[in-house]
Order: sequence, then structure tokens, then C-alpha cells
Amino acid sequence: MTLTRIDIDLPEHQLRETLVADAARGLLAAAKTCPPKYFYDQRGSELFEQICGLPEYYPTRIERRILTRWADEIVAAVPAFTSLVELGSGSSSKTPLLLDALYRQTPAVSYVPVDVSLHALVGAVGALRDAYRTLPIHGVVRDFEDPLHGLPDLGHRVVALLGGTIGNLDPRTRAGFLADVAAGLSTGEGLLLGVDLVKEPRRLVRAYDDAAGTTRLFNQNMLNVLNRLLDADFEPDRFDHVAVWNEEQSWIEMRLRAREAMKIRLGSLDALVGFEEGEEIRTEISTKFRRESLERELEAAGFGTRGWWVASEDEGCAGSAGDYAVVLGVRS
Ligand code: SAH
Ligand code: AVI
Repeated sequence: MTLTRIDIDLPEHQLRETLVADAARGLLAAAKTCPPKYFYDQRGSELFEQICGLPEYYPTRIERRILTRWADEIVAAVPAFTSLVELGSGSSSKTPLLLDALYRQTPAVSYVPVDVSLHALVGAVGALRDAYRTLPIHGVVRDFEDPLHGLPDLGHRVVALLGGTIGNLDPRTRAGFLADVAAGLSTGEGLLLGVDLVKEPRRLVRAYDDAAGTTRLFNQNMLNVLNRLLDADFEPDRFDHVAVWNEEQSWIEMRLRAREAMKIRLGSLDALVGFEEGEEIRTEISTKFRRESLERELEAAGFGTRGWWVASEDEGCAGSAGDYAVVLGVRS
């Protein structure tokens, strides 16, 4: 029996069609935007992994610390949990912390990683297959905007969205996403979120505008993706990387700012898009959360908060409101 498979529900031509629609909506609008899922081609996924190791980018480090310390308690908080479904799984590099804890509880473990990036998924599944010889892994390349529809249901599930990725959804999309996950789960199944918390703006901005310039490359790489999928002619170096804290919305915005006026051809849309000098494309929001409002959102979607584990860069897992949290909701 093969224990490992990958389904491709989002072939590149479909991603391209989606991008044509997203670009028509976002790049031809007065305030230009492009959704962050277009960061993650092979180079984008590699750059994201580099970001995770940057001194300024604390979320990955702190989330790893929380899972290292608390994975057994997290797993035990969902009785009968056997199947881990991970949305936006990327390199799945923190997943073994959960899988190991799950194996300490039951031998009947399965894993369903889901990501738009075929490259990231293939790498992650290969590494996990080598490390866990008996683990059934059913990877799916797809957009998690329709989170659980049609996904393999291999057991009593916890759906994980780690790394702070829930923060990349705007509030309305996030509410829809949480409601859709809840609708796809049965009573007693779980949702595990890694969320970055509100903190000093200077620290937040540094995490998205690092000294080595890796986040700049990650941001500019979206223009290479647009060139390839949209037959466009962006020159990434003609755009500056911008990271700003939006206090009112409680999110970091990443933008690409045109250094000079220019016209860009979008071949697939048969359109030209004009930029004034200084005009920006918003490429990502990264929301920073507060406990009370997130618990209210979870409850509105149909989840009771069963656990909230925090840690800070300096203080380990003790005290303080924390820099970053892992939150467990259980479908009520
Ligand atoms: N969970 C990992 C990776 C976070 S990076 C971690 O904690 O390190 C975000 C991941 O989500 C990337 O691998 C990206 O390809 C994926 N992603 C972003 N938008 C997505 C979408 N709409 N649907 C599916 N995957 C998405
Ligand atoms: C994937 N996501 C949670 C990251 C974040 O922090 O919002 C993406 C990222 N953008 C810049 N650096 C990292």
C-alpha cells in the first residue's frame, strides 16, 4: 500500500486563470493590490524559509518554542484526535512537533498538508515520508480559500494554520474562512491557529523590513510571478519594498512602491497599467491579534477556545501577554 500521495487540485493553468481575475480586480483598481498567495513560487517559498531564520523575524522561532513546550498538552486537549490537516503547510518544518506528540497518544495518525505551492509541498512530503515511514500522508495542492471542501477525511481532525498565516487574510475573508472551516468540521474536531500578537510597532516593522534585505527580495519576487503567469513586464528593481504598521487596522502592510512613473504591460489581460512615481501595490497584510477579539471571532464562527499558549522572545514561556500565541478552538 502506498502511504504517500499528492493530489493537484490547482494546476498552474488554473492558478494563472485565477491570477488574471485577481489582477484585473487588484492591479487595475485605483488603489492597487495583489493577494499574497502569489508570493509562493519556488523562489518565493525558498525566500520565505530564509525569512524564518532571520534575527528580526521572531514568529517562526517563538511558534517552534511554544510547540516544543506544549505540543503534548495541545494534542491531549482534543480527545480522539488522529488526523492533522495543515493548511498553508509550506515546508511543514514545525509539523513533526505535533506529529510526535500525536504518536505519543495514538498509533493511528495521518497527515493532510495543503498548499498552493507544489514545490513546497513536494519537499515537505518527501522529508516527512523519510522521517515517518508508516505515516499516511495525503498532500493536496490547492487554495485554502475553500478550506475543507473535497479534502480527504482520514480521521478525527485538527485543522492547523500555523506561522501566522490567518493574519494574511483581511477581516471579512478571515470571518468567512473560519466559518467555512467550522462548517466542514464535526463537533469536537479542532482548529489550531498560530497568531502573532500586537506589540511595539518598531519591532513589527523590523520583522518585515530586515537588514539583510531578504523580505525585500521576497516582496519583489511577486513581480516575477506576475511576469510569468500574466505575461507582464515588471522590472522588480524599479520598485522599493515598503513595510508600514497600520495602527487602526492592527496590521503590517507590505507594499511595492514605484521608483518612477512607468507603464507595465499585462499581456494576459491585454492591458497597460500606469504607475505614478511613488504609487504602490499592496501585496500583503499581516494582522497582529489581541486575545479577547480573536476569541470572539472564533466563537462567532462556532469554535470554543480550549487553549491559548504564548511565549515571548526573551522570557521563554513564562508570564507576560506574550509575543506570539498558539490557539486551539474546538468545534462546538
Ligand atoms: N505554515 C508554514 C508556512 C507559512 S508561509 C509555517 O508556519 O512556516 C504561508 C504558506 O501558505 C506558504 O507555503 C504558501 O504557499 C501558503 N499559502 C498562501 N496562501 C495560500 C492559499 N490561499 N491557499 C493555500 N496555500 C496558501
Ligand atoms: C506567511 N505569513 C504569515 C508571513 C507573515 O509574517 O505575514 C509572510 C511574510 N511576509 C513577510 N515576511 C513573512
